[in-house]
Amino acid sequence: MKKTWLLTGTSTGFGRELAELLAQQPDINLVATARNTDKLSYLDQYDHGQILKLALDVTDQQQVAAVVEQTVAKFGTLDVLDNNAGFGYFSTFEEADEETVRQMFEVNVWGLVHMTQAVLPVMRRQQAGVIIGISSDAGLIGEAALSFYSGTKFAVEGLFESLAQEVAEDQIKVMLVEPSSFRTDWAGRSSQKKDTDFPKDYQKTDQALREYAQGAGTEAGNPKAAAATIYDQVVNHADNLPLHLPLGESAVTRAQKKYADLAEKFTALTPLATAADFPKKSDEN
Ligand SMILES: NC(=O)c1ccc[n+]([C@@H]2O[C@H](COP(=O)([O-])OP(=O)(O)OC[C@H]3O[C@@H](n4cnc5c(N)ncnc54)[C@H](OP(=O)(O)O)[C@@H]3O)[C@@H](O)[C@H]2O)c1
Repeated sequence: MKKTWLLTGTSTGFGRELAELLAQQPDINLVATARNTDKLSYLDQYDHGQILKLALDVTDQQQVAAVVEQTVAKFGTLDVLDNNAGFGYFSTFEEADEETVRQMFEVNVWGLVHMTQAVLPVMRRQQAGVIIGISSDAGLIGEAALSFYSGTKFAVEGLFESLAQEVAEDQIKVMLVEPSSFRTDWAGRSSQKKDTDFPKDYQKTDQALREYAQGAGTEAGNPKAAAATIYDQVVNHADNLPLHLPLGESAVTRAQKKYADLAEKFTALTPLATAADFPKKSDEN
């Protein structure tokens, strides 16, 4: 039986690469969404009735509900949701533009939440489904100049780690994808940037802001390869789907370093942490 995939943000980047790959599979129905569906004409060459292109701004809850309804009405099932839509924001913590930051949380966090809440009833009825959250290595590691973007992705990590435990009994799998820097529109077109007015006080952050701007278009990560890996994990390794899928070498090495350092420090801090508990019954006797 054909599987139905629903993707957000398929106009460019990871979403587009995955949509183009899925559009060429004989056993997959694809619901490709974008704020502007004119940007989805690249799919037309593959369409023989198995592709549904729908307008979707993930911050619009009415559109979210309508997209899920139309997906089920056309294909009967909804097997995989890929929460991909998102954007970045570079700034010092102190000078961040609150309106932009709130909009980023609306898209990166609440958009993903509302999409996921909308598909869960369908997947629970099916007693099957896969929910993907395109997080980031910035969801595991905080970095100068990216505090609020990291905040959105740390939120996604916490939400989906918890969700995975809640929905496991309904045979619904959750996968957090944690890419390092990839060659998409993310660092260029789709990110917002606020330079610091205090470069002397924020030398490290100022340098990071410049490096991110200069690095756009030369990132190590290949989004086509990322899409192929996501597809392969869901289709061929569904029984053993990783809750965390790092993509790009530095996503692995940086996270390994962080967690090794943390483990070592926590070992040293264990007596201090334990001293904050009430005495155990066995210690009182
Ligand atoms: N590239 C990286 O280095 C990297 C690393 C880690 C994580 N990520 C994450 O990967 C995901 C995809 O980004 P990308 O790298 O592929 O960048 P991208 O090429 O800029 O793609 C972002 C996509 O999100 C869409 N989008 C933005 N706001 C939206 C909204 N309100 N509703 C619906 N769609 C919206 C964009 O559509 P429009 O054309 O309408 O703007 C675009 O299709 C994001 O969540 C990003 O945070 C990227």
